[in-house]
Amino acid sequence: MASEYLHEPKHLNLKKDSDQPLLELKSLQTHFFSDEGTARAVDGVSYKILPGETLGVVGESGSGKSVTALSIMQLVPQPPGKIVGGEILFKGQSLLGMSEDEMRKIRGNEIAMIFQEPMTALNPVFTVGDQIVETVRVHRGLDKEEARAHAISMLEKVGIPSPETRVDEYPHQLSGGMRQRVMIAIAMSCDPSLLIADEPTTALDVTIQAQILDLIRGLQEEEGMSVLLITHDLAVIAEVAHHVAVMYAGKVVEYATVFELFDSPAHPYSLGLFRSLPDLAGPNEPLATIPGMVPPATRFPSGCRFHPRCSIATDLCKTDEPILGFLNGTDGRTVACHHIDEAAKL
Ligand SMILES: Nc1ncnc2c1ncn2[C@@H]1O[C@H](COP(=O)(O)OP(=O)(O)OP(=O)(O)O)[C@@H](O)[C@H]1O
Ligand SMILES: [Mg+2]
Repeated sequence: MASEYLHEPKHLNLKKDSDQPLLELKSLQTHFFSDEGTARAVDGVSYKILPGETLGVVGESGSGKSVTALSIMQLVPQPPGKIVGGEILFKGQSLLGMSEDEMRKIRGNEIAMIFQEPMTALNPVFTVGDQIVETVRVHRGLDKEEARAHAISMLEKVGIPSPETRVDEYPHQLSGGMRQRVMIAIAMSCDPSLLIADEPTTALDVTIQAQILDLIRGLQEEEGMSVLLITHDLAVIAEVAHHVAVMYAGKVVEYATVFELFDSPAHPYSLGLFRSLPDLAGPNEPLATIPGMVPPATRFPSGCRFHPRCSIATDLCKTDEPILGFLNGTDGRTVACHHIDEAAKL
């Protein structure tokens, strides 16, 4: 069984599912408007993150993972993008009702994000120290010297050797792994309660990947923050996530604990994804690939958006969109499929 590959996430001292989530998305919709039509990139996304936990978000390219994260930060380019529906609750407060000034305080102080490509997120004309100093001066009101000392201690914390020297270097003088550590240092420098990490290790080689994940996990343990981790890599999910949201065509199709998902994926799409991973499929389980491709966000199919690729789809799936419903006998697991019983036999 795939679950034997899972490591118990020891660092998690989770509260019960019934406790107030740190972040909750309710039917979030973010669309892009252009001459080619409306791209419904995020189209009814619901998930929550509990205090101190890591939520993994998985799904094929184009499923809306990054746009959801950008929506939380309210950094979706507008136009062409716009949040057109739903709610984002952070510590029980609606982020969508906030002014740009209020949002600026949330970004950096409360929610920090590591972007998919660190080279584009770092400013090439400033030293790494200046970039951390800038962040902490704006958000924490430290004077120049205090901010510089803080920057050096943050670089040290994320494992950058000789931080007193590195602090005066420019992004291009650092390796990919170092740049990613700098991104994490900037994100962590204001002690956020939520860290959004969008594919934080994809561009890095395997050894460095493991180090960065350990770093994020260690910082999480120390600071008690929650992490929203977006990744294609199910092995990473297995290692660090507590809950997982599986996204397909702008929606969450399944939300479950990492154990439930690796042990018995319930949605046919989750099944396809988790079985297509060689390392995580059990020795006797055939490898499966999901036929077809993710539809473009301007042309989602009617009914269940996965139906053209699903082996158990019926006429009902072509016309009626399934809603995310609680799975009987579970503690908060949700799945959007008309035929869960049949899917369980796949
Ligand atoms: N600025 C934009 N203008 C128009 N469409 C956009 C824009 N940004 C994203 N999209 C569309 O939104 C959809 C979701 O994109 P998103 O970047 O969230 O996918 P993703 O799940 O993060 O994919 P990946 O795994 O490749 O990072 C895609 O169809 C994409 O083309
Ligand atoms: Mg992305």
